Amino acid sequence: MAEPLKVGLAGLGTVGTAVVHLLEQGRDKLVSRCGRPIEIVAISARSRGKKRDFDLKSLRWIADPVALARDPEIDVFVELIGGAGDPAKRAVETALASGKPVVTANKALLARHGQKLAVIAERRHVALNFEAAVAGGIPIVKTLREGLNGASFTRIYGILNGTCNYILSRMEQDGLAFEDCLRDAQRLGYAEADPTFDVEGHDTAQKLSILASLAFGTKIDPHAVYVEGISSITPADLAAASELGYRIKLLGVAVKTDEGIEQRVHPTMVPKESAIAQVMGVTNAVTIDAVGLAPITLVGPGAGGAATASAVIADLADIARGIVTPPFGRPVARMTAVRKAPMQHHEGGYYIRLLARDRPGTAATIARRLAQQKISLESIVQRHSLTSRGAAAGSRGAAQPGRSGEAVPVIMITYATSEDAVHKALAAVRRDRVVTGRPQVIRIEKN
Ligand SMILES: NC(=O)c1ccc[n+]([C@@H]2O[C@H](COP(=O)([O-])OP(=O)(O)OC[C@H]3O[C@@H](n4cnc5c(N)ncnc54)[C@H](OP(=O)(O)O)[C@@H]3O)[C@@H](O)[C@H]2O)c1
Repeated sequence: MAEPLKVGLAGLGTVGTAVVHLLEQGRDKLVSRCGRPIEIVAISARSRGKKRDFDLKSLRWIADPVALARDPEIDVFVELIGGAGDPAKRAVETALASGKPVVTANKALLARHGQKLAVIAERRHVALNFEAAVAGGIPIVKTLREGLNGASFTRIYGILNGTCNYILSRMEQDGLAFEDCLRDAQRLGYAEADPTFDVEGHDTAQKLSILASLAFGTKIDPHAVYVEGISSITPADLAAASELGYRIKLLGVAVKTDEGIEQRVHPTMVPKESAIAQVMGVTNAVTIDAVGLAPITLVGPGAGGAATASAVIADLADIARGIVTPPFGRPVARMTAVRKAPMQHHEGGYYIRLLARDRPGTAATIARRLAQQKISLESIVQRHSLTSRGAAAGSRGAAQPGRSGEAVPVIMITYATSEDAVHKALAAVRRDRVVTGRPQVIRIEKN
């Protein structure tokens, strides 16, 4: 049999442990697919004494992951420690600089230093594979980098954070508040003790910046991503969206526009019949639009030990077969700086929920401010007018707030307009003091 591919594995947590098990279980299959076994020969983690659910005895322990990365006995370095800084960064740099291919699941490291690492990999002509870094078990990196490398991409969008999708699904299905669903997500192990990174959209932004780079050949720039999280979404928004034929998802969207690449992460209304709207719970999904190609949607597990390990092993299998692909699908010298399309020029439909003061003239004022910005409405729903006649709960038509001065929820769906126009119209409406509180604005993404 051909020589095994000898693996140095740094990080024995959720993903690292699953990699150990899957490599063991899939040994024969991998031999038949790759022509050689893939064997872990040395490992590193923070604590040697920690109880693990596999036998460490046959494996060499190297306390320092950087030393493991340059160990002459290993052929490939797998980094499953996490974090954009050291030791993950220095270990990956060291492995690549020593001419060893690297497999990593570390989106934070790639979003921050992907370019620099790709330069080292290219110089040494070794692979830097990171299928597991985006959408866990969904083979989206390979799809963009290899499967569709003849395509001209126009838009990539998806559900890239299972925690947020779980919370929004529960809020919609059970009519629960954000905080209650977040607590459940934490209890079930879907959300971190500090959930900010996930629920405020930053995790999705890191993944989106990697996908945008693969699709559009731009240098990764997480700062070019506009980010809004889901914590302001209420059950009322989800109910209204449902009534109007939509679901709310936290989407990462990268679109090619005349002004550059728009990269944005925000709660998004998607038509109920779209493929992405069917994706509930912790599942992830990515839709790819390309010229001359009907949309392709990949759906699957975005996290979890086994799903993520399966992506790590696919990357290792490529290395065992001797495949070296440029990390971002093209030589680094051919990648361009992101020309960031300004968010205020974003064009699309909008959901707007206002708390209108229930008194004469309110509807006319809102209508005038929208008209001044050339915003036209596809629909308008007034929830419960406390005083006015003819404005029944949930009725569609022109809002006619009554005379009590109390707040009445008014929900509007606009035809395509610009971000700038919506903000200007709402700022004027607030100045006119015909609404209370902050208007809720959710962008609509059509399929
Ligand atoms: N979990 C998922 O579902 C998932 C999905 C997609 C991508 N990822 C990515 O996969 C990577 C690993 O995630 P994980 O969930 O497996 O993390 P984890 O369970 O927290 O495991 C981290 C591992 O790294 C080790 N480690 C931490 N600091 C270290 C240091 N300074 N030196 C050496 N080893 C150190 C830990 O050692 P000890 O065991 O001794 O504490 C542990 O074995 C991350 O980049 C993450 O973003 C995870």
